[in-house]
Amino acid sequence: MPADGCLIDRFASHLPVTPRTPRLTLGEGRTPLVRAPRLEAETGVREVWLKVEGMNPTGSFKDRGMVVTVAKAMEEGSTSVICASTGNTAASAAAYAARAGLSCAVVLPAGHVALGKLTQAIAFGARVIAVRGSFDDAFVVVKELAAAGEATLVNSVNPYRIEGQKTAAFEVCDVLGDAPDALFIPVGNAGNITAYWKGFVEAAAGGMATRRPRMFGFQAAGAAPIVRGAPVADPQTVATAIRIGNPASWKSAVAARDDSGGAIEIVTDDEILDAYRFLAGCEGVFCEPASAASVAGLRQRAKRRALDGVERVVCVLTGNGLKDPDTARSLSPSLSEVAPTAADVRAAIRALP
Ligand code: F0G
Repeated sequence: MPADGCLIDRFASHLPVTPRTPRLTLGEGRTPLVRAPRLEAETGVREVWLKVEGMNPTGSFKDRGMVVTVAKAMEEGSTSVICASTGNTAASAAAYAARAGLSCAVVLPAGHVALGKLTQAIAFGARVIAVRGSFDDAFVVVKELAAAGEATLVNSVNPYRIEGQKTAAFEVCDVLGDAPDALFIPVGNAGNITAYWKGFVEAAAGGMATRRPRMFGFQAAGAAPIVRGAPVADPQTVATAIRIGNPASWKSAVAARDDSGGAIEIVTDDEILDAYRFLAGCEGVFCEPASAASVAGLRQRAKRRALDGVERVVCVLTGNGLKDPDTARSLSPSLSEVAPTAADVRAAIRALP
């Protein structure tokens, strides 16, 4: 695998790109795989690695798929893109569309998109529309508009999204020298678990890995349609990125689970926030709440002693913690303001937990 070059070039032989596909890039991919010693100590798993996807250009894994999707839209002569989003897809689509000179419309669930993501979509010049409804309602609308020929749909039902996102699995195999025993990943619209599985299957078939990992996906308790076996009409969770009641890639997520011998399970909001704080406070890695669902799932399974034969784990941290400053601030005590003297500052430090 070439060490340098843009994502499209690095993985061209594994992607549906041609020499004519524009080499669009914002520097996506090649994100750090960071070892997590405190999680190893807590869970008893020999190796725990964090794939820090928040280091992508717009702060989430979406950039891997979006770069390929927008480049193909350009190649095919499209002039505008559209998506529904809980925030990160919108930020990524807006950035790559701006870079490519395409217009971009993003349709969001009103009141349920983290501040950083909304700010990004606005900054990148997208047309931002909030609908009174859920992500699932917004998704129905953008599919209708795209089917009417008004823009290219860049949600993960667009196969180029999955193709681009699968490159994260290749990077994991490259850095570890093989696939891990298990991959832990949050599940929302279920595109990413689909993409990683496709990547790991191709990695094993192509000699990049000798085996395929078990795939463990995690949904929030209030937004767990796959686990419960039926769509959720009014999904609710603090992890707004995965507040989805009827995932588009439902069937392929179930296939990834079953073909890999894995599981898709529930984590509660409390478990998500606990993992979120643990990652920042004990590992020095600040991800967004939805991302922490992967680690919440690992910790839950460790507690249940349900990690037999699992010695090397990768947890995908899908998005950057700075995306959602409101959640971070809501968990911390209010700032204490004191006089600028050593005595007052010392007392204030000691008064804090
Ligand atoms: N983590 C984050 C930070 C996300 O933004 C998403 C999805 C997921 C996990 C779940 O990934 O949908 O492929 O199962 N965000 C989408 C969006 C829905 O609109 O940004 P998935």
